[in-house]
Amino acid sequence: MTGSILFSPLALRGVTFRNRIMASPMWQYSGRNFFPTDWHFMHLGRMAAGGVALVMQEGTAVERRGCGSVADLGIWDDRFVAPLRRITDFIRSLGAVPGIQLLHCGRRAKMELPWGGRKALRIAPENVEDFDQWDVVGPSAVAQSEEYHTPRALSLAEIGAVVEAWGSAAERSLRAGYDVVEIHAAHGYLIHEFLSPAANRRNDRYGGSRENRCRLLIEIVEAVRARWPADKPLLVRLSIEDEAGWTIDDSVALVRALHQAGVDAIDCTARGIAGSPLLAKNAGDYGYQVDLAERVRAETGVPTIAVGLIVHADQAQAILRNGQADMVAIGRELLYNPNWPLDAAQKLGADPGFALAPLQHGFYLERRARSFVGKPSTYQVGIDPKP
Ligand SMILES: Cc1cc2nc3c(=O)[nH]c(=O)nc-3n(C[C@H](O)[C@H](O)[C@H](O)COP(=O)(O)O)c2cc1C
Repeated sequence: MTGSILFSPLALRGVTFRNRIMASPMWQYSGRNFFPTDWHFMHLGRMAAGGVALVMQEGTAVERRGCGSVADLGIWDDRFVAPLRRITDFIRSLGAVPGIQLLHCGRRAKMELPWGGRKALRIAPENVEDFDQWDVVGPSAVAQSEEYHTPRALSLAEIGAVVEAWGSAAERSLRAGYDVVEIHAAHGYLIHEFLSPAANRRNDRYGGSRENRCRLLIEIVEAVRARWPADKPLLVRLSIEDEAGWTIDDSVALVRALHQAGVDAIDCTARGIAGSPLLAKNAGDYGYQVDLAERVRAETGVPTIAVGLIVHADQAQAILRNGQADMVAIGRELLYNPNWPLDAAQKLGADPGFALAPLQHGFYLERRARSFVGKPSTYQVGIDPKP
């Protein structure tokens, strides 16, 4: 791989990524009883085969009640370890680094699937164990909107148990073969709910001042770091700004504290506390959140990951070259083309030998490329189409 910052390696702690491309975590709503299925194997595996450096698995619940839907993935029990290991072994065999995003949906739990209407789930679907005990919890009894459940406020003792659940999930992630953990603290889920005064009305040590509202996240980072090896990176996904008054300045202060607590990079997204991050006002513009990653990186010196409509090879390359981020996360574009990194490497002239492709494919693609030399790049039909 030559001459391209997008395809230059990046090291965080003891893990080296072969390039700067992360597969953004994307729920597939394809879990069965919260276990992964062949769909996940295919979805994550094909992005690894397509040249992604860091394959971040979708938000995976640290507690049963933290699941967003009945088709989420979980990691609150040792029984999840072996089936997840099958996926991480495969990703690694393809030269990519397997990462897991850990999540608790808080007051956004227990919802219908997106294609089922995404309203609060009130009727037990078939084959879902313990539906009646599925408790929706949050910092305070404030619903995100009428479409969501109204949560029950967690007690102080319960908050301690939630923090412990994140620590255990990190330890299981290690046994399941992941090399990177990302804590999902964005998009209006439990941790973001504690950060935001719009959802957090507590008057104990987890509510009120910004320091108090950040306490849950800091405690979770400490619990995860205590169980996650010192040579493996820990990331946090943050809504750098949101619809309810959380600002970049708040994030900059928080990121400094997170870095002190052992976080290696910040995955910079936005919003979600009062609406959908994908329906953000300017979500139609290329790179609509890159400025957030840029500012956090400039003001804290902490490595950042930019995400949000990054779809072109030269766009991704420019983000890195301009020092706006250290990595780019690609989401929906990888749903469209899981070979996006291979394609980007060709467009940037970074991989003439197709070394990024698995040998089973690269061997033939390299030979085919040689046969293109000197031919026009568009196909010209030599036959008169008229009868
Ligand atoms: C189907 C789907 C599922 C998603 N699931 C998650 C998730 O599990 N965790 C998360 O932090 N973001 C999730 N997101 C947001 C993406 O990671 C990403 O931030 C967003 O799609 C913007 O990037 P893009 O324009 O490259 O798609 C999801 C997005 C989509 C489209």
